[in-house]
Amino acid sequence: MSKEAEVVCVTGGSGCIGSWLVRLLLERRYTVHATVKNLSDERETAHLKALEGADTRLRLFQIDLLDYDAIAAAVTGCTGVFHLASPCIVDKVEDPQNQLLNPAVKGTVNVLTAAKALGVKRVVVTSSVSSITPSPKWPADKVKDEDCWTDEEYCRQNEIWYPLSKTLAEKAAWEFAKEKGLDVVVVNPGTVMGPVIPPTLNASMLMLLRLLQGCTDTYGNFFMGSVHFKDVALAHILVYENPSACGRHLCVEAISHYGDFVAKVAELYPEYDIPRLPKDTQPGLLRTKDGAKKLMDLGLQFIPMDQIIKDSVESLKAKGFIS
Ligand SMILES: NC(=O)c1ccc[n+]([C@@H]2O[C@H](COP(=O)([O-])OP(=O)(O)OC[C@H]3O[C@@H](n4cnc5c(N)ncnc54)[C@H](OP(=O)(O)O)[C@@H]3O)[C@@H](O)[C@H]2O)c1
Repeated sequence: MSKEAEVVCVTGGSGCIGSWLVRLLLERRYTVHATVKNLSDERETAHLKALEGADTRLRLFQIDLLDYDAIAAAVTGCTGVFHLASPCIVDKVEDPQNQLLNPAVKGTVNVLTAAKALGVKRVVVTSSVSSITPSPKWPADKVKDEDCWTDEEYCRQNEIWYPLSKTLAEKAAWEFAKEKGLDVVVVNPGTVMGPVIPPTLNASMLMLLRLLQGCTDTYGNFFMGSVHFKDVALAHILVYENPSACGRHLCVEAISHYGDFVAKVAELYPEYDIPRLPKDTQPGLLRTKDGAKKLMDLGLQFIPMDQIIKDSVESLKAKGFIS
C-alpha cells in the first residue's frame, strides 16, 4: 500500500509531541486523522493546517477522551493509531480522579476499543518515563529499564497523580492487548523538548521556561532524562513501521538527572540566572548513555542534550516566551 493510501490516526495531534508526529507522518506521505479537543479553537488547529501536506492529507476530528463515538469516528478507515492524548498536569491537582486518572485510563481503553472494533492493525501508545519512575524499590545497583514500573502505592501516598495516571493507563493498554488480541506497542519518552510547533507550551517546555526564570524545583519524581521532539516522533514511527518492535521502549537521549540538565543549561546560557542545584537530583537513578537501547537497535540516533537545550531555548525566544 502506498503511504498516501495508508491512513493513520494521531490522538492529541494538536499537542507539542502530537504536532511533531503529524508533521513527520505527513512528510512520509501518510494520510493523517489528527484529533483536537476543540475544532473551533484556532490555537489547536492553525499550526496543524499550516503543515506541509496538510491541505490534501490531513483531516481534523474533535474528540473528548471520554466520548467513545467521537473517537471511533476519528479511527474509522485507519490502519494504525498513535494514542498521545492524555491530560498532562504535573502541578497540584484538585480532583485527580476526574482531571487525570479517568481521561488517561478510560481514554486509552476507548481508543483501543475503537481500534479493535474497526480493524486497526497496530496501536502505538504514548506512555512515559512516569510509568517507570518513581520506583523506589528498584535495586540501587541496577539501571532502570523497561522492566521497571512506577510504584502505584508510593504515588497515592505522596499524591503524585500524573505518574499514576500514566502507569494505570499503560497497564490498562497491556491488559486490553492481551485480553482482546490487539497489537499494541508502547513508547516511554523522558522529558520532551525542542522546537515548539503549537502556540502554547506543554508541561516539559514550561519546566524549562521556569528554570530560565530562576525556578529551583528539582522535579525529583518526574525526570529520568531528556529527549528531542523529533526523536520522540521518529520513535513512534519506527515502532509502528517495524513489525519486530514489541513491548515498551524507553525514549531518552541518556538516563540522566535533572541536575545534569540544569548544569548544561547554565553552561550554554550563562546570561540567564540559572539556579545552582545539586547534581544528583534523582537519588537512586543510575546514569547511562544507552538507556534507550531498544530504540537505538531499531536505528534511532538520539539528538544529544546540548542540541535539545539549544533548540528549546531558541524556540522559546522565537515565540517570545523569553528575550
Ligand atoms: N512532554 C513530555 O515531556 C512528555 C513525556 C512523556 C510522555 N508524554 C506524553 O506525551 C503525550 C503528549 O504530551 P505533550 O507533551 O505533547 O502534551 P500537550 O502538548 O499538553 O498535549 C496533550 C494532548 O492531549 C490532548 N488532550 C488532553 N486531554 C484531553 C481530553 N480529555 N480529550 C481529548 N484530548 C485531550 C490535548 O488536547 P488540547 O491541546 O486540545 O488540550 C493535547 O493535544 C501525553 O500522553 C503525555 O503524557 C509527554
